[in-house]
Amino acid sequence: MAGFFITFEGVEGCGKTTQAKLLREYLIKEGYQVLLTREPGGPGISEKIRNILLDKGNSEMLPETELLLYMASRSQHTGQWIIPALQKGEIVISDRYYDSSLAYQGAARKINRNIIDIIIRYATFGLVPDITFIIDIPVEIGLSRITANLADRLESETMAFHEKVRQGFLDIAREDEKRYIIIDGRKDIDEIHEQIIHSIKLQGRLQ
Ligand SMILES: Nc1ncnc2c1ncn2[C@@H]1O[C@H](COP(=O)(O)OP(=O)(O)OP(=O)(O)O)[C@@H](O)[C@H]1O
Ligand SMILES: [Mg+2]
Repeated sequence: MAGFFITFEGVEGCGKTTQAKLLREYLIKEGYQVLLTREPGGPGISEKIRNILLDKGNSEMLPETELLLYMASRSQHTGQWIIPALQKGEIVISDRYYDSSLAYQGAARKINRNIIDIIIRYATFGLVPDITFIIDIPVEIGLSRITANLADRLESETMAFHEKVRQGFLDIAREDEKRYIIIDGRKDIDEIHEQIIHSIKLQGRLQ
């Protein structure tokens, strides 16, 4: 595929949205066509599924249901938005993608990894990000950056849950040292941004 697919991952409040937006601005200034999107979300169908997932009233949702809803949302997002944009040669930035399912539903909720892998492959049509930034930060720092009234269902999980998610991301990163770049999320916003641009340039895809 002609385009370039970049994803941002990490625990709540680590700085994904901040860095995704800064990267988009930078790439647009450099003359690239950029699609910035997020998960769960994207096209209308995927956003509707997002609302079900983040609804605090759905506290009885089973891990299996949650996994499948994320994947349903992702499938529509990938097929309707991401793959067509990449085929047009655009740079796609996604604020979370399937590595979040590996960390949240896999590492934290303990759903079998083989099952998740199979559903990921199906839901994404086999698409794999070219580069994935895992912004790593102690859970309590990330959560302290998010104000309480914005906390959604997932953010009100216990600290132990978020610790498992954090560790899950770090473990996944070891599986492919070329694709995953671990970033220290405690650094300044600008310093992290520079590091991200540097890493992308190292991949040889940008001038
Ligand atoms: N490196 C940083 N240092 C200090 N504050 C930061 C840094 N990066 C982001 N922030 C601030 O922390 C808050 C959370 O950042 P952001 O929304 O980018 O995180 P996120 O990973 O997208 O969170 P969520 O998981 O809730 O979507 C924001 O107020 C942002 O301005
Ligand atoms: Mg965010």
